[in-house]
Amino acid sequence: MHDDIERIVFTETDIKQRVNEIGKQITEDYKNLREEIFCVGILKGAAVFYTDLVRSIDLPIRFDFMIASSYGSGTKTSGAVKILKDLDYDIEEKHLIVIEDIIDSGTTMGYLLDYFTRRGAKSVKLCSLLNKPSRRTVEVKIDYCGFDVPDEFLVGYGLDYAEKYRNLPYIGVLKSEIYS
Ligand code: IMP
Ligand code: MG
Repeated sequence: MHDDIERIVFTETDIKQRVNEIGKQITEDYKNLREEIFCVGILKGAAVFYTDLVRSIDLPIRFDFMIASSYGSGTKTSGAVKILKDLDYDIEEKHLIVIEDIIDSGTTMGYLLDYFTRRGAKSVKLCSLLNKPSRRTVEVKIDYCGFDVPDEFLVGYGLDYAEKYRNLPYIGVLKSEIYS
């Protein structure tokens, strides 16, 4: 796997430090809330980030997960989003923090945020480890963002290419010869 990486963008230490900062910020922002926070992870990409982040949030939270796929293949999406696994819990009147790996075009998250609002969530905040602002076609507000990244294809720490590289402990740029 390591030989397929062009260069490392964020090391294990960089990620750990930033994730802890975000967890502390969320703890601070929600400390006066009397209700439980529903942390909604978007599988599979956010799985690694999710499990690290929740351990740095020092408040009662409930786990929930969704699987969504935007139609289309490779690196392009068509704009339509399909829910492959829905939430387990009723989110009406609940406070949600949506946890995602990366916001690229914004198509997936634009759809999901609207979906959570339509289902009656009391508040919805978005936490994404990575943000590729140059690729945005759908406007999405990121409340907690780990790092802004340029338009390069990244893998590791949950991010995949064809289901591979998710378990790399760092985030790196994939060599273009792997996907071209
Ligand atoms: P969006 O709907 O275009 O914002 O797509 C977001 C999804 O595309 C993410 O949840 C990832 O699964 C995937 N994605 C976007 N950029 C990358 C990347 O650089 N590496 C791996 N997956 C990516
Ligand atoms: Mg994803």
